[in-house]
Amino acid sequence: MSVVYTTSEIFPSTEQVLAINQLLAQILKKECKNWCARQTEVKEANSDLEKIGFKYLDSGLHRVCYVSSDNRFVLKIDLVSTQNKYEIEASQRIPKILQSVVLLPIAFSSDFLWLVMPKAKTDKDLPIEKIHKLEDEICKFLSENGYFCEDVHHGNVGLFEDRAVIFDYGFNIGKRGE
Ligand SMILES: Nc1ncnc2c1ncn2[C@@H]1O[C@H](COP(=O)(O)OP(=O)(O)OP(=O)(O)O)[C@@H](O)[C@H]1O
Ligand SMILES: [Mg+2]
Repeated sequence: MSVVYTTSEIFPSTEQVLAINQLLAQILKKECKNWCARQTEVKEANSDLEKIGFKYLDSGLHRVCYVSSDNRFVLKIDLVSTQNKYEIEASQRIPKILQSVVLLPIAFSSDFLWLVMPKAKTDKDLPIEKIHKLEDEICKFLSENGYFCEDVHHGNVGLFEDRAVIFDYGFNIGKRGE
């Protein structure tokens, strides 16, 4: 059964949510040449996010990610305003059976600029052989249940509560034959 988190567990102070929204609004209203420039802007906000309890973790092409001070949650800031939205929409379509291998967002802003997920152990915490095993487990499980995900690779999977999980899926997860 999936765990239900309360807002106060994710954001111990309500000012945090406000501060995140304000910070992002400031960054995103600036003109940026392209999204690499945007990524730099977001990363430069690291010290401001640290002040409100989120430390820089890692980034991909679309998102810059921060970890909460208790190491339980990841805040994903979307630079292109599509990936978080796709992920949230996908998570709402995902059938119960797949919820054991897909890490679901547990909070998000109404404009999808940020979302929060539980933190998994990743290729930074576990040996690469273990990560490859997790990839195989996820692909097998999805396929046995008639699904596929094109984005199952070492940077997108991890271990959460002793389960293999994917934490970056968006529009890349779907039902076979559709
Ligand atoms: N739930 C999580 N638990 C642990 N680490 C995470 C989590 N979500 C993201 N990360 C870390 O942040 C990185 C970037 O996140 P993510 O892959 O979701 O972003 P992306 O920009 O969509 O990636 P891509 O370049 O693959 O499109 C991941 O590779 C991983 O190291
Ligand atoms: Mg990724």
